[in-house]
Amino acid sequence: MKKTLFTPLVLAASLASSGLMAADAPQGAASMPVEMQQMMKAFTPEMRQKVMALSPELKSTIVKLHATHPRRAKETTLRQIMHEILSEYQSIASAVATDNAEQAAEAARRLASHRIPKGGLLPYFPLDKINNNDMAVLPTMNTAVEGSALKLAAAADAGDMPLAASYMSDIMTGCVACHQKFRGVPGISANLMTPQSK
Ligand code: HEC
Repeated sequence: MKKTLFTPLVLAASLASSGLMAADAPQGAASMPVEMQQMMKAFTPEMRQKVMALSPELKSTIVKLHATHPRRAKETTLRQIMHEILSEYQSIASAVATDNAEQAAEAARRLASHRIPKGGLLPYFPLDKINNNDMAVLPTMNTAVEGSALKLAAAADAGDMPLAASYMSDIMTGCVACHQKFRGVPGISANLMTPQSK
C-alpha cells in the first residue's frame, strides 16, 4: 500500500523537477525563435539542455533548415523519411538510365522537398552530436544533397541528361558524409560476440 502511494508522488516530483510538467516554453528559452520553443516542448530534458546550449547562430541555422522545408510530418520518423529519400534517389537513377527527364526532375524535386519528421530533425540525432561543432556541418550536407538534387532537376529540365547524371554522385557524397558523422552502420546487433569491424 505504502508503495503504491509513494510511486506517483515520486514520479510527480521528478517530472516537475525535470521541467516536463511546465506548460510554457522551457526556462531561458525566451530568446529562442518561436518555432524552436514550440518544438522543444516535446523534447526530453536531456535533449532540451543540449539544444539550449547551442549558439544563437546555430539555433538560427536550424530554424532556417526547418523553414526551407515547410511540409511537416504528423507521425513519420526521420528514419522513415530517409527511406522515402532513398526511394526518390532510386527513382532518379531509374529515370537517368532510361533517358526519362521528367521522372528525373520530379523525383529530384521531391527528394529536395522532403517533410520534416515528427518533432523536428534534432531529436533523431545522437545526444552527443548536439553541439556547435558537429551541428555546424548540417548546411553543407544539405547543400550537397538537396542543392545537387535541384541542379539535377534543372539539368533534366534542360534535356542535359549527361549533366543530370553527374549530380548523382554529388548527392550520394552528401548522404554518405552525413551518415559517417551522425549515423554509423544501421542495425548493428547486440547479440553478436564479435563487434562489427568498424
Ligand atoms: C543531415 C544528415 C543526413 C543526410 C544529408 C542524409 N541522411 Fe540518411 N540518415 C541520417 C540519420 C541521422 C539517420 C538515422 C536516423 C534514425 O535511425 O533515427 C539516417 C538514416 C538513413 C536511412 C535509414 C537506415 C535504417 O536504419 O533503416 C536511410 C535509408 C538513409 N538515411 C538514406 C539517405 C539517403 C539516400 C540520403 C541522401 C540522398 C541521406 N540518407 C542523407 C542523416 C542523414
